[in-house]
Amino acid sequence: MRKTLLLASLLLLLIVMLMLEKGSNPQWGKYQSEYFTEQVSKLQVVLGTENDEAKVKQIQQEIVSYQGRKPEIVNLVLPNGKVERCQTCHLGIEEISKSHPSNTFGCAVCHGGNPLSLDEETAHAQMYGGGHPGSLQTASLSCGGTAANGVACHSGNHESGKNLVDSVKTSIMTTKAGELSVVRMTFGLDKTKEVLGLTKGQVAYLYPNPLQGRANEGQFQQNCLNQCHQSGGELPVPLSLGTPTASSNRLEEGVPQSKNTSTGNDKIHANGCEACHVLVNPTHTYTGNDTAINDNTSSRGMVHNLTTQIPYTQCNQCHNQGSHDPLKMEFSARPDLAKVERDWTAGDLTWSDRLSDYYLPGELFARCEVSLDCIDCHTRQDVMGDGEFYTSQHDAVHIQCLDCHGTKEKLPLTKKVEKPEDLMFEENITNPQFPELKTGDEILMTAKGEELPFLRHNRDTWIQSSRVTGKSFNIPLVLGSSCEQTADEQGADLCHKCHTGSVHPSE
Ligand code: HEC
Ligand code: HEC
Ligand code: HEC
Ligand code: HEC
Ligand code: HEC
Ligand code: HEC
Ligand code: HEC
Repeated sequence: MRKTLLLASLLLLLIVMLMLEKGSNPQWGKYQSEYFTEQVSKLQVVLGTENDEAKVKQIQQEIVSYQGRKPEIVNLVLPNGKVERCQTCHLGIEEISKSHPSNTFGCAVCHGGNPLSLDEETAHAQMYGGGHPGSLQTASLSCGGTAANGVACHSGNHESGKNLVDSVKTSIMTTKAGELSVVRMTFGLDKTKEVLGLTKGQVAYLYPNPLQGRANEGQFQQNCLNQCHQSGGELPVPLSLGTPTASSNRLEEGVPQSKNTSTGNDKIHANGCEACHVLVNPTHTYTGNDTAINDNTSSRGMVHNLTTQIPYTQCNQCHNQGSHDPLKMEFSARPDLAKVERDWTAGDLTWSDRLSDYYLPGELFARCEVSLDCIDCHTRQDVMGDGEFYTSQHDAVHIQCLDCHGTKEKLPLTKKVEKPEDLMFEENITNPQFPELKTGDEILMTAKGEELPFLRHNRDTWIQSSRVTGKSFNIPLVLGSSCEQTADEQGADLCHKCHTGSVHPSE
């Protein structure tokens, strides 16, 4: 009896000591100290390369100030009076974007969670989508929610064009309805592009019995339909994360995907809005300043930052990665993928790098399909949907070659801007490459009626500014050139018969 009592009190003492230890050295204090140390070493590196005396002094002062900093609770007070403490642990987190400044938005508006808590588990309870608030399962609460001032964010607006959460959820890139339809037609299961019983917004990999029980149905679902769609689809595992050979099937049925032993990552996913708006490296690892984030198993963006300057490398997480064999239902990585991943940067700037990384070897394209980025051509409705239900890429695509180049008879369509604020886009706020737009400016329009504000007409000049690099290009017109196209042959395949611009004129 006495022994048990002694043991119990010893145990109690131990618990109390542990609790005291934790109180005096809370988890968040550790993250903050790590952050200060990291900042000091970063500044010391800068110091080593700085010659300007005034700057050296300034850096030295910053170092001293970080060395003297003590961890403290961070109370972020929002304009509505609410207090958030997430940054007590996430002190080093980057600003998410200029249009969502943390001192007015805070964190919980996008992430949910319990912003007053200083305990990791409680703080993160009920967070939207874990590390991925832009996942389409939760995007209605995060991106589609309501701001503190009562303004509807990216859903629930009177102008339907602003309800991107709704259009993205039903777009063909999210559902993969096009792939389902093409394969069913090839197998003779449907006579038209319409898929029996498939409804708007329904994700193709959840469509029951896509091949009506034929052989390879399981492979079709797993290796094809479950890959690369934006509602949480698996992305092809980068070579640098596994060891598949270029031609091997990376998702054989029943065989677990190659695991990256250094990070324990066995799958990377496309997460809705983030799939385009948060830039990634091939391994989806976080490289920013938040010292609380040190595990990289959940496939993260490089830094905590939303952008509309989306380089082709981001689109190529899904596109141009290889080909699908429609009989074996297997994915084959492009043979030069290892090279593409090795010298990966977020959108190569030199022509020869772009040329060798952009498309699959052997594909045909005109020069502009390499010198421009995907989003310089593919419009907002191409990438985020237009609210309609499509079962073929051909029907979904909005841009055409003639939208920029015109034809032998016609100049490209244009529109005079009467009130810049009446236009549908907000990119003058979100994209720093946006060229200034004034009343009276003439912008291009697609034949489907979508505005292309990055393309301008002024007297004899037709100028396009890249929304990724900011570089400007003269658009050559078909009218008046010696182009040999005919009026009724405007599809890209037909142009590519004559225009294969694999050689840059200046190289
Ligand atoms: C406008 C919405 C928005 C706001 C505001 C926001 N975040 Fe995020 N946050 C995101 C998105 C989107 C991601 C997912 C990025 C990804 O896929 O890697 C994210 C990811 C994170 C991550 C995981 C690490 C990473 O970068 O992937 C942390 C930690 C985080 N946010 C903390 C915060 C904190 C703390 C605040 C407040 C200071 C905050 N966030 C404000 C949208 C937001
Ligand atoms: C007590 C410290 C602490 C507090 C307070 C805290 N976090 Fe975290 N948070 C962490 C740590 C540690 C991780 C990294 C977990 C990991 O890497 O597995 C993390 C991870 C995250 C992630 C990525 C989650 C994932 O599954 O990938 C997000 C997003 C995030 N925090 C947002 C928030 C938000 C928003 C708040 C405030 C509501 C908050 N955190 C408050 C410590 C904290
Ligand atoms: C998460 C994977 C993924 C990412 C990232 C992605 N796409 Fe797609 N995209 C798809 C899939 C899958 C399809 C085809 C769907 C089908 O045919 O069923 C598609 C189709 C398209 C189409 C034809 C249909 C349409 O909507 O016009 C265009 C154009 C397109 N993507 C452009 C882009 C651009 C530009 C980017 C980068 C800004 C991008 N994609 C990023 C998966 C992706
Ligand atoms: C397939 C890639 C892709 C996905 C997925 C995507 N976006 Fe976009 N988004 C873009 C591109 C490209 C632009 C810039 C093009 C434009 O505005 O014409 C853009 C622009 C925007 C803009 C701002 C600029 C403007 O013109 O209003 C907002 C806001 C936005 N997206 C929100 C979202 C939300 C919310 C989601 C998820 C529901 C999402 N996006 C998913 C590619 C994507
Ligand atoms: C110079 C403009 C331009 C650039 C750059 C461009 N595209 Fe396209 N894309 C088009 C046009 C025009 C079409 C319509 C093709 C037609 O007329 O048949 C198209 C069609 C598509 C389609 C539909 C399928 C098909 O082959 O018809 C997809 C998917 C697509 N593009 C994805 C991309 C991706 C991903 C990128 C970047 C890696 C990209 N495009 C870069 C102009 C461009
Ligand atoms: C968004 C506007 C846009 C679209 C859409 C577009 N182009 Fe271009 N095109 C350009 C620009 C800008 C240049 C100049 C590029 C440069 O200087 O590198 C160009 C240059 C060209 C040239 C002259 C250079 C060469 O390759 O010899 C041809 C031909 C051409 N485009 C064909 C096409 C074809 C075919 C399509 C459809 C697949 C297409 N373009 C779609 C903007 C566009
Ligand atoms: C039968 C061959 C042929 C076809 C098909 C064809 N073109 Fe051309 N195109 C030419 C020739 C030849 C020129 C003149 C080349 C030159 O001046 O360098 C030309 C010139 C052009 C130019 C002007 C280039 C410049 O630098 O001034 C554009 C733009 C263009 N074509 C676009 C297209 C588009 C878009 C299509 C598809 C709708 C197309 N072409 C189909 C042969 C063709």
